[in-house]
Amino acid sequence: MILLETKALTRTYGGVVAVSKVSFQAQEGLITGLIGPNGAGKTTLFNNMTGLDLPTAGKVYFKGKDITGHSAHKICRMGIARTFQNIRLFKELTVTENVMVGRHFKTGRNVNHGRTLTAVGSYLQMNREHQQVHAEAMRWLEFFGLEPFANELAKNLPYGHQRELEIARALATEPTLLFLDEPAAGMNPHETASLMATIRRIRDLGITVVLIEHDMKLVMNICDTISVLNYGENIANGTPSEIRGNPLVIEAYLGKEEE
Ligand SMILES: Nc1ncnc2c1ncn2[C@@H]1O[C@H](COP(=O)(O)OP(=O)(O)O)[C@@H](O)[C@H]1O
Ligand SMILES: [Mg+2]
Repeated sequence: MILLETKALTRTYGGVVAVSKVSFQAQEGLITGLIGPNGAGKTTLFNNMTGLDLPTAGKVYFKGKDITGHSAHKICRMGIARTFQNIRLFKELTVTENVMVGRHFKTGRNVNHGRTLTAVGSYLQMNREHQQVHAEAMRWLEFFGLEPFANELAKNLPYGHQRELEIARALATEPTLLFLDEPAAGMNPHETASLMATIRRIRDLGITVVLIEHDMKLVMNICDTISVLNYGENIANGTPSEIRGNPLVIEAYLGKEEE
């Protein structure tokens, strides 16, 4: 089943055509890679699918529903989460607090749900919800093996763990679809190998993953299917072996990577 798709999505900035008539599809339950040279329009396509940017033309559908132009917050609540090319953590909050913020972002929890509670009732409910959100955050930290760092400030984490923490925070919103923008950027080979295993475990939870990545070993190893952008256009779609052997892709991107 197609979980998310764009139809002829175009985004121009003044005279620059960042994304040109791209019809992209993410199948439910799969890991889809989005690759291409710098400036090809990958992040712009992500921004247009997650409500951070508005297409100049074309549509975005999630579970068959037109979500074009919906706000980022609304799209998050529908079950779509993302990380950013440049890490965006709350550096002065603890590791646990960063994940808890993710959870609150999803629920936008208002303590008394519009009902009038007594001060004591309100306090008890708030306390219960806090404990629940805390417990859920700890579950995600355990998933990433980050629980030893639970009370560290995010800024003190090693770089690879900061990247994982960003993913943990995105997962705390309980998405069905997760977008990762260059999750392995800046990671050493050991961290990248661990990330690869983690992304597979995320897929095994039933979460659909779409990832932008330049590390071809990672992309070719874990993606079920790959879409290629070049100068804003979708020049190829296929399995890793189809993409590796595609002359257009080799010319535009893969050939240059190997130099
Ligand atoms: N907010 C913006 N304003 C103007 N130009 C932009 C903006 N965002 C992206 N672009 C341009 O769109 C093109 C695609 O950029 P981007 O989507 O970041 O590429 P990628 O993620 O594939 O490296 C580039 O030419 C970039 O300069
Ligand atoms: Mg980018």
